[in-house]
Amino acid sequence: MLRLVVNDVKQMQQLAQVISKHLQGGDLVVLTGDLGAGKTVFARSLLQALGVDQTVTSPTFVIMKNYRGKFPIEHVDIYRIDSLEELDVLGIPDLLEEGHFVVMEWGEKALGMFSESFLHITFERLEDDVSLEDEIAGQAPRFVSLDIVGSGFTGRRNQLENDITGHWGVAI
Ligand SMILES: Nc1ncnc2c1ncn2[C@@H]1O[C@H](COP(=O)(O)OP(=O)(O)OP(=O)(O)O)[C@@H](O)[C@H]1O
Ligand SMILES: [Mg+2]
Repeated sequence: MLRLVVNDVKQMQQLAQVISKHLQGGDLVVLTGDLGAGKTVFARSLLQALGVDQTVTSPTFVIMKNYRGKFPIEHVDIYRIDSLEELDVLGIPDLLEEGHFVVMEWGEKALGMFSESFLHITFERLEDDVSLEDEIAGQAPRFVSLDIVGSGFTGRRNQLENDITGHWGVAI
């Protein structure tokens, strides 16, 4: 597990860029964090780094949105889903099997249902006393934790961790 301090949206974009180099079709990335923690900001940056040139909007209301980058990409937000049937309809295991890359906000609500292995990224506010102006301007620091779950990323773990610590110095 790696834990980093990401100071602003620009650094969040840089982190997404570094991580994107280690991702491939069929991978699942689960994003966890409170409302407004930065999941969509990170997902948008990741999709852009993976070659999506369309505008990436929050999928909170549409639940799942398909993009085309280096491979087919699904941006999912299951915050509003509250039954297993609704989750099943999305067909995420099949999409992963077919080589779609899936990035999922609030995926911890159903961890393990989609794939045994995934990259789990968690976003937390660092300080409570950041001004609203700084929050809106994307200037508020976040803790970002990265955890590789299952065996799917095993061969890539060292490269991914080295690449991140190479950019960020010593992780905490
Ligand atoms: N360091 C930072 N990284 C990311 N976002 C930041 C940062 N500092 C401030 N912000 C602000 O925090 C907000 C993050 O919003 P975002 O939509 O990404 O949250 P979310 O986690 O997807 O929330 P939701 O659960 O509602 O989908 C943005 O308004 C952004 O400008
Ligand atoms: Mg969001």
